[in-house]
Amino acid sequence: MAKMSGRYDAIHSGTPWFDQRGQPISAHGGGIIRVGDIYYLFGEAHRDMTNAFAGFNCYSSTDLVNWRFESVALPMQQSGPLGPETVGERPKVMRAPTTGDYVMFMHADGLDYRSQFVGYATAKVATGPYTFHGPLLFEGKPIKKWDMGTFQDKDGTGYILMHGGDIYRLAGDYRSVEAQVNKAMVHGFESPAMFRKGDTYYFLGSNLTGWERNDNYYFTAKSLDGPWIRKGFVAPKGSLTWNSQVTFVLPIKGERETVFMFMGDRWSYPRQASAATYVWQPLIVQGDRLSIPVYRDAWRIDVGAGKFRAGPVPGEIITSTDRRVSYTGSWQKSEIGGPIHQVALDRDASFSVTFTGTQASLYSVARPDGGYARVTLSDGHGVKLLSSTVDMYSKYPVSNVKFVTPRLPRGKYTFSASVVGEGWYWINKKGERSGSAGHAVSFDHLDVRK
Ligand code: DGJ
Repeated sequence: MAKMSGRYDAIHSGTPWFDQRGQPISAHGGGIIRVGDIYYLFGEAHRDMTNAFAGFNCYSSTDLVNWRFESVALPMQQSGPLGPETVGERPKVMRAPTTGDYVMFMHADGLDYRSQFVGYATAKVATGPYTFHGPLLFEGKPIKKWDMGTFQDKDGTGYILMHGGDIYRLAGDYRSVEAQVNKAMVHGFESPAMFRKGDTYYFLGSNLTGWERNDNYYFTAKSLDGPWIRKGFVAPKGSLTWNSQVTFVLPIKGERETVFMFMGDRWSYPRQASAATYVWQPLIVQGDRLSIPVYRDAWRIDVGAGKFRAGPVPGEIITSTDRRVSYTGSWQKSEIGGPIHQVALDRDASFSVTFTGTQASLYSVARPDGGYARVTLSDGHGVKLLSSTVDMYSKYPVSNVKFVTPRLPRGKYTFSASVVGEGWYWINKKGERSGSAGHAVSFDHLDVRK
């Protein structure tokens, strides 16, 4: 299949992203560091159908929109922790002030999530390869907890954040822990992330629901040892953090202003490689409050100015009843969770639309029984340019963008989608199942830029 490189002019949330090779960007549970004018994104490389560690990827960008694959910064190890059939999650990189080394921290674990510790790896250059050193030690002992994050304060002091709210201060070379500055303050509080604005620290985290989304919440404090004050939800209650789980907050410092970018994961077990997406949104931070009041399908960032603005305006809308849409298999009309749209359950169902333009965005209604769709973009000669899996599950019905093509040379293209016949699910340690009740695929409209 011809591969088309990913080229975009806005940050899109909830859609697969493609790198310069035309491959889906796999960097979940990740974080970003800036080195000069380059942003490096580190995250979990995933495979479908398993949680087993597949390495940590590194991508680079100068605009936070287009990402170039750089390396597998930390590959799977030959044996031991982070070896075959283990778990490695939430890599975060910081540069140690005393040595200049790049130090990567991660959650290392067994495939059954019962032998967790915080590990670290180091490299002389940002893109690696990183050398894994095993557990990070505090008072000679590993930190045996799972979800972790990092925070680097203005003076360069580095901190490890743990689920529940533990905070550990790192030594200057970031290779050991000097002190524990905060003790667990709440049950759960997974995927801890922190940033500072002025003299206020903001500490974000999620509830404990496996890969299922929940309403993430936050605390603020004037000092890292507290008192931490619980403030409320990161996004409107019930939106389940716009269907995501926080992993990191990136301050994008421009000449005069700073945008704080919320980075979240929209997990999709068992298709974490092909169908999990990213939810990156500008955070509104005022006083000791933060929020993501509206969900932006697409928005733009000016990294030089530290300012964000709206994404492209809608183009031509091709609705589900437009005569340019052709359906195979059985489709039903529905109005749940959005305007009138079409829904298919039948495993043989598919639709396709031919359009002329420079970019197309698929809008669908994600639903409690939603499942995976296989989408394909072909050129006017029927040559496949891109294909991907998209996830249409949400605990509450909601219409939003599910797939965006890269910017295309103006021309005629065909977009098609078919039902895969599976939905995402997760079974936790207690044997409880969460996720989709079915495998429905829906089509709301295609937004075509001229
Ligand atoms: C929630 C965590 O935040 C994820 O990183 C992952 O460990 C899942 N739990 C596994 O269920």
